[in-house]
Amino acid sequence: MRNGPLVTEKKKKTKWWVALGVTVTILAGASLGALSAYNWSVDAAINGLFGGLINQEESPEVIDDPSVDESETDSGQVSQNPEPDLPEENTDTPSEGTVTPDTEIPAEPQEPEKTPETVTEPYYVDGVLIANKQHPLPTDFAPGEDPEARTAFNQMAEAASAEGITLVAFSTFRSYDYQVDLYNRYVDQHGQEEADRFSARPGYSEHQTGLGFDIGEAGQEEHWAEDSFKDTAGAKWLAENAHEYGFILRYPAGKEEITGYQYESWHFRYLGKELATEVYNSGLTLEEYLGI
Ligand code: DAL
Ligand code: ZN
Repeated sequence: MRNGPLVTEKKKKTKWWVALGVTVTILAGASLGALSAYNWSVDAAINGLFGGLINQEESPEVIDDPSVDESETDSGQVSQNPEPDLPEENTDTPSEGTVTPDTEIPAEPQEPEKTPETVTEPYYVDGVLIANKQHPLPTDFAPGEDPEARTAFNQMAEAASAEGITLVAFSTFRSYDYQVDLYNRYVDQHGQEEADRFSARPGYSEHQTGLGFDIGEAGQEEHWAEDSFKDTAGAKWLAENAHEYGFILRYPAGKEEITGYQYESWHFRYLGKELATEVYNSGLTLEEYLGI
């Protein structure tokens, strides 16, 4: 039977292919296992040798080099601390009421001191020209004697004359230069501290406005610009009537702290009848009345 041997031959061939397949499978499996083991051992070896380096790249250390400023490091990473080590600055905003003794409080801006050399215009308050220790006049301010004040004085002198009092205005307008000589003479005679109580420094005198009148009586020169004048008939008449002609007693007794000068019973300031009467009735000094 031809089929018999043929079948046997076929079975033999089949067995062969099965055996071959099994062998190949075993060999393939073994190879894969060996390869896997090899890879594992290579990884382990590399990690063992260069593990530190690899970790450093993954977690770069903070760089303290002050020259490094947002630049790339050797590892290609941007420094996480690019700021150089500078002294610590307190940038905290102090909350209200916080005491910060180390913080200097800036001084209030100060107005530059006014002097006759620095001011360019005379100082007026409500239309009233001011010359006192706080408000000097420019050195070149020289209006001369005020004509309206002179007219008022003449009317006043006429009224006083009717009562037997002969008024004289012995010093009215004084220039800056004149006051320089006068003040220096007083300083020589009395010393500066004393002179400053009864004499204006140059540029600070009301006489430079042309509105200040030193008044005495004719024939009684010994009382002119003297404390003794206050007890004369002329001084008493002026104290009661001058405001009706537009004049006020400018440096009253007991007001030195306000006016800057001792009582001067002879120094009057022309303001005009209306304002002079208001100031007189208020009982205030000009500084107090104007609120300066
Ligand atoms: N005696 C006054 C204050 C003056 O010198 O102007
Ligand atoms: Zn005077």
